[in-house]
Amino acid sequence: MSRNIDFIPFALPCLGKEEEEAVIKVMRSGWLTTGKETTAFEREFAEKVGSKHAIALNSATAGLHLSLETQDIPEDSWVITTPYTFTATAEIIRYKNAHPLFVDIDEISLNIDPFKIEDTIKRTGTEKNIRGIIPVHTGGHPCAMEEIMAIAGREELFVTEDAAHAFPSFFKGKAAGTWGNTGVYSFYATKTITTGEGGMVVTDDDEIADRIKCLRLHGIDREVWNRYQSKKLAPWEYDVVAAGYKYNPTDISSAMGRVQLKRAEAFLKERISIARFYLESFRNIPELILPAEAGGHTWHLFIIRLNLDRISCSRDEFMNFLSEEGIGTSVHYKPLHLMTYYKEKYNLSPEDFPVSTRIFNSCVSLPIYPGMTEEQKERVVRAVRTTIGASVKRSVTGVEYDS
Ligand SMILES: Cc1ncc(COP(=O)(O)O)c(C=O)c1O
Repeated sequence: MSRNIDFIPFALPCLGKEEEEAVIKVMRSGWLTTGKETTAFEREFAEKVGSKHAIALNSATAGLHLSLETQDIPEDSWVITTPYTFTATAEIIRYKNAHPLFVDIDEISLNIDPFKIEDTIKRTGTEKNIRGIIPVHTGGHPCAMEEIMAIAGREELFVTEDAAHAFPSFFKGKAAGTWGNTGVYSFYATKTITTGEGGMVVTDDDEIADRIKCLRLHGIDREVWNRYQSKKLAPWEYDVVAAGYKYNPTDISSAMGRVQLKRAEAFLKERISIARFYLESFRNIPELILPAEAGGHTWHLFIIRLNLDRISCSRDEFMNFLSEEGIGTSVHYKPLHLMTYYKEKYNLSPEDFPVSTRIFNSCVSLPIYPGMTEEQKERVVRAVRTTIGASVKRSVTGVEYDS
């Protein structure tokens, strides 16, 4: 039973008066759908990450899907990605009637392992028609993009970065999301900036940008806002040049996004500061494996792993104990090769991706978001230390846990 204490949720959006005012302004303006707020959001976002184009959408899933729509991906071809991700990353490959070719992650970054990509291509490249790679910057830890882009160059593969967790992240002089042919960010409610639901695709390629703009609104050749601004053509005078989709964002969400964008650096600072506090507080606890630090880490997630050999409780029991202490947690991720659809369709077993399986069994995501108070951070640390202290196996005691 939970005690009567303030619950610290695992994630919480950070929205204030400025977002409220921006949204109300749009509501009162008479123009709610994709319009000048979206155009401004796209321009400001592109500037921030240093890409030529940014196209706003109603989700990152839409952005990942449309990225594939700009590539030649025949039915029954394969696209490399990681099983250690949210299902959106792989489902969009199935939208094309192509197949996800899963490659296991690296134990430290939790990102797709470039050595294993090479190995997979060597082993299966002749029998499988491999077309591209979708690396995921897991939890905001940047992928080994130099290595991935080198492989893609050699093998003539496209790259779409799943940067759902990786805004704003800069490493080796470039933003996460700007290394591949396209990069896709999520503005879902728990992400580093939010519009409630929303996403953004970035690219330097004019043709890709035009195609995504067209496909996001039914394959219509003129953008809705431009149609209503034009003095030459009536708004109804448009052509349908592709069987497109309904993936455009509202100006309400874009207005919220513009405010969040301005706050992104301040949010990042807070996330980094919480991550450092946790890393420092948990440094000498051998029952925990801490997330690796990396330049450009956005700390969208703070994923600890339990050293299950040293404690007497399971990962789920550990999470239940924290919940009783009023601390929300989550699991990132139950990997896709353990999910019924992928397991059955591709006949996959836990041993096929041993690193992903092992990490899944021991990982716990702790609360991390801007606006967490000192007291809340300390409560999280205290609860983790107490729970570990109570669960440590007798044979390995001797370490002091309570702070
Ligand atoms: C790694 C990853 N990719 C893609 C998505 C899809 O994002 P959206 O909900 O904006 O479609 C998510 C969402 O949680 C995600 O975590």
